[in-house]
Amino acid sequence: MKKRKILILTALYGVSVTAFLACTAKPQEIVVQKSVGVACYNKSDAFLSELLGCLKEDCEERDMTVTIRDAVGSQRTQNDQVQELLDEGCDVLCVNLVDRTDPSVIIDMAREKDVQIIFFNREPVAEDLKQWTGLYYIGADAEQSGVMQGELAAQMIENNAAVDRNGDGKIQYAILEGEPNHQDAIIRTESVVNTLKNSGIELERLSYQIANWNRAQAQNRMNQIIGQYPTEIEVVLANNDAMALGAIDAYKELGYEKSQMPLFFGIDGTVEGLNAVKEGELAATVYNDKESQAELMADLVYAIVKGDSVEEFTFERKQYIYLPYQKATPENVNDFLFKEK
Ligand code: GAL
Ligand code: CA
Repeated sequence: MKKRKILILTALYGVSVTAFLACTAKPQEIVVQKSVGVACYNKSDAFLSELLGCLKEDCEERDMTVTIRDAVGSQRTQNDQVQELLDEGCDVLCVNLVDRTDPSVIIDMAREKDVQIIFFNREPVAEDLKQWTGLYYIGADAEQSGVMQGELAAQMIENNAAVDRNGDGKIQYAILEGEPNHQDAIIRTESVVNTLKNSGIELERLSYQIANWNRAQAQNRMNQIIGQYPTEIEVVLANNDAMALGAIDAYKELGYEKSQMPLFFGIDGTVEGLNAVKEGELAATVYNDKESQAELMADLVYAIVKGDSVEEFTFERKQYIYLPYQKATPENVNDFLFKEK
């Protein structure tokens, strides 16, 4: 807190300009606030909206204004919105790309105005980030989240023989996957399955469905899966909490009792996800640390607008910064629900 206050004071000092009134000798301070333009792929995404809430708060605490634009899933709309943010004079951009493979238009526009970009949550490929030194990425390592989800599931399967409902020595499972081409979808699926296999658990995949991070879509897909396998699914591995919760919705709406349901695993630790862990509906989740991601973004934005060196931000792969995931289980879920910043 103390550090933050000092930072804010320094910001005010650093960005204030002194203007002289025409007829008086007394100088008057005019404080020009720095502005952050934020472009996001879709605000209705549960995890993202929580992350944006933290980012807004953190930037405002550092005395910067924030304007958020929502592309509602269209890269073309996002390109226009970024142009508007630049025309309005934003000092730094934070961009959550719609299409993570297509940032070139945005990079060119920002570079022309010498406005640096922090991409977040949707990771651009390395070649694109190399286009200019004023580009960064802040996110988390997708593989780590899949490995952690796999470890959590392996542990719960090993400690509870009843998970193997039909007692055939194998775990029949379904996967609910996020958007195609999203780094967190493909990699989480691969690494959760590999981790379970490496723990010596025999697996049988009964179904694999894409539900685009979305609760309602996941409920829909899970309905179809249940139609095909009414009692056979023993574990549901979802690439995020929203989809795990959608799967639970499907079983509930069909009238299943908890004792008849599989184990569900999510990733993110959204407020709803954590509450579901607390209530014992979701077996466990993996915390996607939105508070730390937002805080680091705000710190980096702040360093950029002050013209400070960004070297203190330890970049693992040059312009990329990854923050760690954490396992959230019924035992430690309160630590996340009441996370103090
Ligand atoms: C992931 C997150 C998903 C979704 C996605 C959007 O990191 O786990 O729930 O928010 O980002 O890009
Ligand atoms: Ca089984």
